[in-house]
Amino acid sequence: MDTYLSHEASFRRILVQASRSYEIIVGRDLLKDCGHWIRQIASPCVAVIVADDTVDGLYGDRVAASVEKEGIRALRYRFPHGEESKNPDRLFELLEFMAERSVTRTDLIIALGGGVTGDLTGFAASVYLRGTPFIQIPTTLLAAVDSSVGGKTAVNLKAGKNLAGTFNQPHLVLCDTDTLKTLPEQEFACGMAEVIKYGVLSDPALFRLLEQEDARDHLDSIICRCVSIKKDLVMEDEFDTGLRQLLNLGHTLAHAIEKYSGFCISHGQAVAMGLAAVARCAWASGLAKEDCSGRIEAVLGKYGLPVRCDYPVDRLCQAILKDKKRSGGTINLVIPQRIGDTCLHRIEVERLVEFYSSDVRKEEKDSKKGLTK
Ligand code: NAD
Ligand code: GLY
Repeated sequence: MDTYLSHEASFRRILVQASRSYEIIVGRDLLKDCGHWIRQIASPCVAVIVADDTVDGLYGDRVAASVEKEGIRALRYRFPHGEESKNPDRLFELLEFMAERSVTRTDLIIALGGGVTGDLTGFAASVYLRGTPFIQIPTTLLAAVDSSVGGKTAVNLKAGKNLAGTFNQPHLVLCDTDTLKTLPEQEFACGMAEVIKYGVLSDPALFRLLEQEDARDHLDSIICRCVSIKKDLVMEDEFDTGLRQLLNLGHTLAHAIEKYSGFCISHGQAVAMGLAAVARCAWASGLAKEDCSGRIEAVLGKYGLPVRCDYPVDRLCQAILKDKKRSGGTINLVIPQRIGDTCLHRIEVERLVEFYSSDVRKEEKDSKKGLTK
């Protein structure tokens, strides 16, 4: 990772080498120069700026002004914020919007916003005219550390989350960390769930930093660390047939919780619950080398995240079975063995309920023996 200082801003560049190679630029005050960054990678006549109503109101004008300064015409597609917008109707509306305005394959699509915008726009970019360049400008912590990198795009179907999508790497990721200053506390916490996930996954030093200090004081370097971890896994297994699945730590249950809640529980909150649950169950079922669930729950709690979910385990497991992670009669679980050490563990689908209720069974047993934590 290189750190560069320009006359106006300091930023770091991280290179992702996948089916398309691209840079992730992380730094402050980058939005006002986004036209300049676009010119480094493409020469579009038109840039379609896709943003939800909140983000468009906050940052749409700044991005549009910057691209227009470079002689690129800005078109703006704005949609209602929230997970409900990540659906096939919205996808087709966006495609029609571009087609009606004769956007071509040499133009550029900009995903300006959080993971919902990134997933929807990335999908549209991969199918519009069979592929049109797009860049990610993440404005949530969750998008900065996770969804803007790695090329997974999706919309939700009635049957479940992210059930239609593509792999489509962006041409550039421009992460202006100043945009995170307007993020509501709860949305910041949701991003922290993914940050904590990276610590548990493979970085004990990052995890300790999150325990001991305030993440806000180290935001740029935390984002760079997280995307570097993700980049390495993406470069190893871009199409998610092996090691990349480790990034789904906590997500198997999380997607089921989101779906079961009718998307009232956000992705980040669900990831927090899923992460805490899989850590407890991994220990209770003898799959972990150490009991790290207490530390994980404590750090999730420190950043305002929930660690328990009241939904019935059998109903959540039914939802998991609709998830795309299933393969025939088995499913890969991502098991935290200790902080910084995680593995994939394949189990039969019939054993899912047993696994996800093992923590409660152990707690009941311990409490009968007077061993409660
Ligand atoms: P989001 O895009 O809905 O953003 C959350 C909220 O924050 C929205 O209301 C938005 O308007 C608001 N917002 C965004 N930026 C803001 C800013 N700077 N200031 C003020 N408000 C702002 O949700 P999210 O949490 O960013 O992303 C969640 C989505 O990402 C889920 O759909 C999830 O499935 C997806 N995801 C995808 C991947 C991937 O690899 N593609 C990885 C993780 C999550
Ligand atoms: N968020 C999981 C992945 O990108 O693979």
